[in-house]
Amino acid sequence: MFSCSVVYVLLFSTVSIIATKNVEGSQPVLQKTVEELFSKRSQIMYPGACKTIRSSRRQTKICSRNPGLVNVLEIARTQAINACEETFQYDRWNCSLIFNRNAKKRIFDKIYRETAFVNALMAASITHAVAKACASGDLTKCTCVGSFGKHGNLTWKNSGCGDDFKQGQRLTRNFLDLKHAGTDQIAEILKQDVVVGIDAIGEQMREVCKCHGFSGSCTTKTCWKRLGPFNSALGVLKKQYHHAVKKKIVNYTSKRAIMPKVRKKLKVDRKQLLYLQKSPNLCASTKGRVCRDRHNCATLCCNRGYVTTKKNVTSRCRCKMVNCCFVQCDTCVEEFDHYTCK
Ligand SMILES: *[C@@H]1O[C@H](CO)[C@@H](O)[C@H](O)[C@H]1NC(C)=O
Ligand SMILES: *[C@@H]1O[C@H](CO)[C@@H](O)[C@H](O)[C@H]1NC(C)=O
Ligand SMILES: *[C@@H]1O[C@H](CO)[C@@H](O)[C@H](O)[C@H]1NC(C)=O
Ligand SMILES: *[C@@H]1O[C@H](CO)[C@@H](O)[C@H](O)[C@H]1NC(C)=O
Repeated sequence: MFSCSVVYVLLFSTVSIIATKNVEGSQPVLQKTVEELFSKRSQIMYPGACKTIRSSRRQTKICSRNPGLVNVLEIARTQAINACEETFQYDRWNCSLIFNRNAKKRIFDKIYRETAFVNALMAASITHAVAKACASGDLTKCTCVGSFGKHGNLTWKNSGCGDDFKQGQRLTRNFLDLKHAGTDQIAEILKQDVVVGIDAIGEQMREVCKCHGFSGSCTTKTCWKRLGPFNSALGVLKKQYHHAVKKKIVNYTSKRAIMPKVRKKLKVDRKQLLYLQKSPNLCASTKGRVCRDRHNCATLCCNRGYVTTKKNVTSRCRCKMVNCCFVQCDTCVEEFDHYTCK
């Protein structure tokens, strides 16, 4: 069984080398960077200041000017992939890099709904990680340093930073090089997907305050900005994934679509994720996947049905205090149903 699947993978990777890539024209840094962050799940070191990703000359400069950014990018990558796999655990697409276990069908070869989502996801994750790193002091070149002061009658926290969303946004746009992503229609789509991701983080920004003063009189207040946990932004993005809008390229050319002379703005809600190509049907790939309940199993297994098995889960139970200070528990075994797609 094992050797069989190895042969399968080898066969398809050979084919994918021979097959021509379907990406439209040259890829801007934006696409390359997101693809690299999302696909490379092992530690390879590259020469240059960005170390863990193959970087453009501009990106190398950004990495050397921002000590700590390499770590932040690693945090962003891990955070994005983990959150994605958890959130899409019971969906037909489970955050895999390829569709239908077919190495020829990579999500980055075209701009599918999933590609749009991953572009937003990575941008969101970098933004979040940068903002948090500013607060912890792991990144030092942050917009909020030195900008603390009076805000009405409130005194801002006077050491360190709150979560610096602005810097997260700036560094993400800069690192993904939105400025040089192009002005053709494909570039507009990619840029919008990135911006949707960044905005999903911005929407989670809250001000939190702490009161000081006699008996809670709150004569002085310390306030700072705080981001929500990354997973709550991911909830927003998952909704965006489901509501993503398919765009048509006007005047499609063989390479990247060329904008008409009179550049028409894409007529869409700026808040929506955009994609270009319909994803393949993923029903073939859900055989053997674990599903959650009757309703989810029907969808995930594409109505092929599912196998129910009993599993045992052990937990600590009937805990009680003994000899005044020790807690002693029994081990309880509970049986539960486990569903797998046929
Ligand atoms: C600041 O506090 C003073 C009294 O403590 C009050 O009169 C004033 O309106 C406050 N200013 C603002 C901007 O809240
Ligand atoms: C598409 O291209 C043709 C000629 O190349 C041009 O006449 C036409 O106006 C273009 N359409 C749009 C919507 O830009
Ligand atoms: C996603 O699903 C594929 C089968 O379609 C499976 O091989 C893979 O292990 C799954 N990935 C995760 C992270 O569950
Ligand atoms: C679960 O545990 C119970 C009691 O310990 C046992 O009778 C049963 O066979 C177990 N089921 C499985 C699937 O292991």
